[in-house]
Amino acid sequence: MALLTLADYESTAGSLAAWPPGVWDFLTGGAGTESTVTANREAFARWRLMPRVCVDVSVVETSTTVLGSDWDLPVAFAPTALHEVCTRDAEAATASAATALGVPMVVSALSSRTIEDIADAAPEATLWQQVYLFRDRKVTASLVQRASAAGAQAIVVTVDVPRPARRLRDIRNELRFPPHVQARNLAASTGRAPDVSSPSAHTAEAMDPSVTWEDVQWLTELSALPVLVKGIQVGQDAEHARRAGAAGVIVSNHGGRQLDRARPTLDALPEIRTAVPSGYPVLLDGGVRTGAEVMIALALGADAVLVGRPVLHGLAVAGKHGAAMVLGILRAELTDAMAQSGHPTLDSVDRSAIHPAPDPA
Ligand code: FNR
Repeated sequence: MALLTLADYESTAGSLAAWPPGVWDFLTGGAGTESTVTANREAFARWRLMPRVCVDVSVVETSTTVLGSDWDLPVAFAPTALHEVCTRDAEAATASAATALGVPMVVSALSSRTIEDIADAAPEATLWQQVYLFRDRKVTASLVQRASAAGAQAIVVTVDVPRPARRLRDIRNELRFPPHVQARNLAASTGRAPDVSSPSAHTAEAMDPSVTWEDVQWLTELSALPVLVKGIQVGQDAEHARRAGAAGVIVSNHGGRQLDRARPTLDALPEIRTAVPSGYPVLLDGGVRTGAEVMIALALGADAVLVGRPVLHGLAVAGKHGAAMVLGILRAELTDAMAQSGHPTLDSVDRSAIHPAPDPA
């Protein structure tokens, strides 16, 4: 069967025999009843595009500028841990795919490869480094310093993990990663290999539940790199992030993996957009699976989106080519949706480009 959609990649990845026990559930699942995983997707179904006609769409331009850097698509690779579980070349493969499509890759604090190795493997890649405000702030500072030295262009600080989530699939599966799966990026900053065989035990040990905006401010002042705060779900928190010195925010509920019943990110987006000045970068992730959905997020105020699980599906199906194919599908779908709806560039995609759906489906 031809793989034509991100859903095709998801079902193909899910049927692979090679997954170690519990790992597919780890990638797919969310917190509690997984209502937020589902809600992130359903929120897109509540909107329809409003096609305009007799607009010259002989050339469609999907490029955009975020934080002063040019992206070929308004889409980035979200930070996701331990790509080694999906493909042998791990984040080196992901970074090659991101380079091929002209989009940035956000490297997880828990990547299987170091930021230095990833930058070496894909010297043209636009890399952003994701960090946590770990209990040991020296580890956070070291990740920032190493990322800066390796040529990363921004820091993403994820603030929606105060403690391990209640991920019922992982608890039932008694999830344990195989021993070869290592968080080498973190190890290079801690000086010893952290035990990530149980993600939940590692989160409990490493994450700091006492983090406040003062800590975010400390991070924004730590280096010259712009800092984006990931995990913003309420307008007031976007304003807090901006005041703490953040260069932008990422509207995210961690793909529904932390707080069950958190509202879908697409529903939170308009409130967050209006809480910050126009021109202030607002990105969104959670459930984006088609090019038309990228347009809907942009119409509701996002400057760009990130995709998480679909990239992992692509990596698992066909390594770097698979991850590139997934982004290639989004590019083809976005180009088509823009042409079919009379938007030759992204500038004209605003609230007038969409309409609430009377018949969510
Ligand atoms: C994640 N996510 C995540 N976020 C982060 O800031 N650091 C991380 O290390 C990880 N790790 C991670 C692993 C896996 C397996 C998943 C699925 C997700 C969250 C990620 O960045 C993003 O917010 C969501 O994945 C977006 O939702 P979608 O696109 O997966 O629906």
